[in-house]
Amino acid sequence: MKQNLEIPFETFQNIDELSDIERQLFTAASEIREKAYAPYSDFWVGCAILLDDGQIIQGNNQENAAYPSGLCAERTALYWLSANFPDKKIKKIFIVGGAHHNPSPSPIPPCGSCRQSILEYETKQNHNIELYFSSVQGQVVKCYSIKNLLPFSFDKNHL
Ligand code: THU
Repeated sequence: MKQNLEIPFETFQNIDELSDIERQLFTAASEIREKAYAPYSDFWVGCAILLDDGQIIQGNNQENAAYPSGLCAERTALYWLSANFPDKKIKKIFIVGGAHHNPSPSPIPPCGSCRQSILEYETKQNHNIELYFSSVQGQVVKCYSIKNLLPFSFDKNHL
């Protein structure tokens, strides 16, 4: 039986179309992106996580001369958050990425490993996480749950 999946998402042409809190998250992700440590790829990524108590957690990509030892911005932020505040709930994640010089205006989506890590915390907190990914210039895509970016996902319920 052939079946099709449909994925709901929203697009924004620039940050003026965002709400105040969404714009704050874009700014927080953009600011922390400026401190990325990415000397090998020169591709800078920032991530801002909004908690349900209103706190904003930030992270950026951290590279290494032994390339696979580096870590994406999303997981740098998520793992710090989970290590320090294991019981806090995540409402929104905002990612801003692009080459250090002349970044493309296309929104930069999270890699597969980051999607899997976000899924872990969405499953753990049993509540959806809204995910925004953006270009440096402020073209934004909004998704309502990481499950929409990771269909047929593997989680603890399969173990
Ligand atoms: N990167 C992220 O930080 N997040 C992603 O979701 C995609 C890729 C980083 C990893 C590496 O430092 C650089 O971007 C180029 O892949």
